[in-house]
Amino acid sequence: MRYLTFALAKGRLAKKTLEYFEKMGITCEEAKDPNTRKLIFTNEKYKIKFFLAKASDVPTYVEYGAADIGVVGKDTILEEGRNLYEVMDLGFGKCRMCVCGPESAKELLSKNEIIRVASKYPNIAKDYFITKKNQTVEIIKLNGSVELAPLVDLAEVIVDIVETGSTLKENGLEVLEEICPLSARVVVNQVSLRMEHERILNILDQLNDLIQKES
Ligand code: PRP
Repeated sequence: MRYLTFALAKGRLAKKTLEYFEKMGITCEEAKDPNTRKLIFTNEKYKIKFFLAKASDVPTYVEYGAADIGVVGKDTILEEGRNLYEVMDLGFGKCRMCVCGPESAKELLSKNEIIRVASKYPNIAKDYFITKKNQTVEIIKLNGSVELAPLVDLAEVIVDIVETGSTLKENGLEVLEEICPLSARVVVNQVSLRMEHERILNILDQLNDLIQKES
């Protein structure tokens, strides 16, 4: 039997996913060491490998088949636009993709003016403004702390993830429009789903049962 390989977005999503696998009896002792710098963990009994990747790279590993399955946020799936099957909503890591800014920027969104939009998610921002709203915008790609942009006049609004809303609040910004809800999703390589159909469905079924039980 060949190894079934999982690419997990490192951080909270990977931690939570490994906890679910542990509950399914698929354990990885090495992964529990909080100081480990290891990137690949193996469960010999079930012939499963987990590797930890940067979230934005997870869809790439899965599309190319370097991983059969990925666990990653819907934000990353939308932004990367890779060829994969999204097969399950894990229901954790819930947040929202929103257009945010100072209250005063609200009218700019209804006037169809050309505005500057800063975001870590230029494709999501472009798709929302151009395709959905038909509003011409200038997208400015940033890599983090995006809330800064409207405060220092780099952009009128931002497109970013809102979870608790406290980052916005503490910086005098607010949600102006909601783009879509987000959460952790399971993605599968298109060939793997055909070749390893039974094994993959079996694991997804077990995961689904656990999630249903917890919700
Ligand atoms: C994310 C996101 C917001 C914040 C939202 O940033 O980009 O800034 O969390 O969370 P909240 O609504 O609970 O305040 P992250 O912490 O990942 O860091 P970054 O800004 O450097 O990307």
